[in-house]
Formats: sequence, structure tokens, C-alpha cells
Amino acid sequence: MSFLEKINKEKIPRHIAIIMDGNGRWAKKQGKVRVFGHNKGVETVKEITEACAKIGVDYLTLYAFSTENWKRPKREVDALMKLLVSSIKKEIKTLHDNSIRLFAIGDIASLPPKTRKELSKAIADTQHHTRMQLNLALSYSARWELTNAVRAIVEEAMSGKIKVEDIDEELVSGHLTTRGMPDPELMIRTSGEQRLSNYLLWQLAYAEFVFSPKLWPDFTSEDLYEAIYDYQNRERRFGKISEQL
Ligand code: FPP
Repeated sequence: MSFLEKINKEKIPRHIAIIMDGNGRWAKKQGKVRVFGHNKGVETVKEITEACAKIGVDYLTLYAFSTENWKRPKREVDALMKLLVSSIKKEIKTLHDNSIRLFAIGDIASLPPKTRKELSKAIADTQHHTRMQLNLALSYSARWELTNAVRAIVEEAMSGKIKVEDIDEELVSGHLTTRGMPDPELMIRTSGEQRLSNYLLWQLAYAEFVFSPKLWPDFTSEDLYEAIYDYQNRERRFGKISEQL
């Protein structure tokens, strides 16, 4: 029986966050350059995005480029930025066909103008779609996001727009790049690494983590369903005890 048949369709997580890791190692195993792995990784992005839309996920957030990734060799950064542009152009039809809204979280202003332009166009062109929202985390890091939120909140408090007593969890959430979205219930990281790498630190407070040993280019929709099955069979207690649930 496949995991697609096993998962409870009534308990699909509303928001799944993924750290797509292992493109470089996948390429190295084939004796190819790292960019080859990123190219193959785009095919996985397409498969997983379509699978999530099909089973009723509302939000899918993919860590496509971290703030720290700017430190990679220039030719890899340039190749990733170019790949982003070509992938958006190539897959815009997939987004329309599946009624998927594209969105970006991160320091978008730091992206090269061409990447920014293509991204903004795709975001505008798909804004009316309602089946699922695909968030690309680009030039994103949670510490960058939280620092910006603190700055904005302090400015609002100093200008008298809000009072210090108004600062609660809801207000902080409302100052993050994911404002208005539910927190991810499930976070998947591929490639066997077991760390958060500055990803959605606030939003993942109660998420279940699934670490897959598969490298991202080898990760399939069946692996996604297995991760969801795993998530569905865990007891999420949110600090309570079993009997209270
Ligand atoms: C991690 O693998 C992957 C990335 C830093 C980039 C992910 C980008 C893509 C899958 C392609 C573009 C994305 C979209 C959304 C079109 P790694 O390079 O860190 O692999 P390694 O750990 O094996 O070196």
C-alpha cells in the first residue's frame, strides 16, 4: 500500500516547510558540478509542489536561498539566481494550471534586478489563485526576519502607534514575513542533516520535524506522503498531557 493511500486526507497539515538539502552532494555522486544538482532539484520542486496542491496543503514554504548562501562561490550564486529566473519562466504554467499563488519571503531587495523582476511578475500574475500558496524563502534567515520585526515594533512603540503592553505573540507574528499565514505543522529537511539552519525559528515553535536521509533531487512525492504519514501518527501535545487531548 502506498503512503498516499495510507495518509488521512482529513488531517493534512495546512502548512509544510521544507529545507531542500543535498543538491551539491547529489551532483558530486554523479561526478558532476554542483549546479547540475540544483537543476535536478528544480524537478523535485515541481513534483513536491504539485503533490502538496493535490492533497490539499494550503501553504508550502521552500528554503531556496538563505542569507548565508551569499557566501558561496560567486559562480554558484549567479547560477542559482539564473536558475530561479528560468524556473519561474518555465513553471509559471504549472502554477496557473494548479491555481497556485506564488509568494516570496526574505530580503527580496538584495536579489539581482532580473531575479527580482521575474519574481515580482510571477507573484502579481498568480495573486488571484486560491488552491495553495507557494512561498519561496529567498535571501531569508529567521534572525534577519526577527531583527526586522523587533525594529518595526520598537519604531511603532516609540512613535506612539502601539503601547508596550500591546506587544504579544500575535503582534510579533504579524510583523514576520509570514504574517497572515498559519504556522507550519510539519518541517521536512532532506539529506540527513538534522538542524534548522536559521529557518522560520519563530514559526516552527510547535512543528513536527521529519528528517529524510534522501538527497533533495532523489526526494519523491511518495517520500513526502511518508513524512505526512509520520507526522499524522505522532501525538502533538502542545505542552499538555495525553489525557487532556
Ligand atoms: C541545498 O543543497 C540547496 C540549495 C541551497 C538551493 C536550493 C535550490 C533549488 C532546489 C533550485 C532553485 C529553486 C527553485 C524554487 C526554483 P546544497 O547545495 O546545500 O547541497 P549540499 O549540502 O549537498 O552541498
